[in-house]
Amino acid sequence: MKIAFFDAKSYDQPAFRKYGEDHGIVFKFFETKLNEDTVDLARGYDGVCVFVNDTVNAAVIDELYRLGIRVIALRCAGFNNVDVRHAFGKIHVVRVPAYSPYAVAEHAMAMLLTSIRRIHKAYIRTKDFNFSLNGLTGFDLHGKTVGVVGTGKIGRVFIDICRGFGMRVLAYDKYPATGTDIAYVTPEQLFAESDIISLHCPLTEETHHMIREETIAQMKKGVVILNTSRGALIDAEALLAGIKSRKIGAACLDVYEEESDIFFEDYSGHIVEDDTLARLISMPNVIVTSHQAFLTEEALSNIAETTVKNLVSFAQNGTCENELCYHCGKTDDCKQHRLAKCF
Ligand code: NAI
Repeated sequence: MKIAFFDAKSYDQPAFRKYGEDHGIVFKFFETKLNEDTVDLARGYDGVCVFVNDTVNAAVIDELYRLGIRVIALRCAGFNNVDVRHAFGKIHVVRVPAYSPYAVAEHAMAMLLTSIRRIHKAYIRTKDFNFSLNGLTGFDLHGKTVGVVGTGKIGRVFIDICRGFGMRVLAYDKYPATGTDIAYVTPEQLFAESDIISLHCPLTEETHHMIREETIAQMKKGVVILNTSRGALIDAEALLAGIKSRKIGAACLDVYEEESDIFFEDYSGHIVEDDTLARLISMPNVIVTSHQAFLTEEALSNIAETTVKNLVSFAQNGTCENELCYHCGKTDDCKQHRLAKCF
């Protein structure tokens, strides 16, 4: 199998080369993102491998189909950038549903601790031999209330980490887990009682701008907001307004609504056009990392291994347990339905 690998970074390649060679899959690495202008690069390949900021809309899917591409392998869990419904009946879409929930949950806690203990400030000061403590006062996590939105794989690891710090945990999930001791509350109660709010749910029409002016108004003054999920869960303008009004005490963002043209690239020495992002980054109480939460050696290896297994399974059986299949409603003779893999 020959796979066109879009938005390739140097850190992606070793693991994909290794697992690919083991299973007879050749990856051709393209630095460019997949979109309507670059889709023709997929000509002559059997499939494409894409990441979070590649564009896999209806037009791109139609062109991929015309080029004979029969599988789109997402090397990530989230799939909000893929028109799964449009792909139905044309191209199979497979993904990596989990690669290291620890990587993302630990990054969320790292950002939280960095922010509230001012580690980012202290690091720069001591590098300059400035050992003053003025302005570095933080607060204890012990005894504070954390509200976790989305109690799937990552949310649950984050809950465990928070419990280790002696925090009170509240959670909201549209589909609450059964048989757990997680204290589920309504979104309103979570917003009203939490000192820290951490987002771990997918981006859907329903969760789009879940954090906006009216929900920020329901929150405690000084609330800390963590987002390691997807940028558009937060209305960035409303977040900025909340920070400027001092309602929001701090924000830790690994994702940003308009990240696709900016994150993962080096813009040092350039003028960034996005004023909202620039203003957020300029705030002393905002920490931004560029969609880095997944980036551990363990996660990279798991991503490559699962993607290659997905492609092998698809090539050998015409199906794959990690397929994203649009819920067409048909039940007869459907392998995906039997696998309960409809979305
Ligand atoms: P998961 O599928 O295991 O858990 C998601 C949870 O969100 C589920 O329990 C689900 O019931 C819940 N949910 C769905 N709709 C909801 C709604 N309307 N309101 C509240 N909860 C809702 O997913 P996982 O692996 O825990 O990942 C969570 C998110 O983290 C992904 O959707 C992805 O966007 C993001 N992510 C970010 C990474 C990064 O590097 N920053 C890396 C991996 C994932």
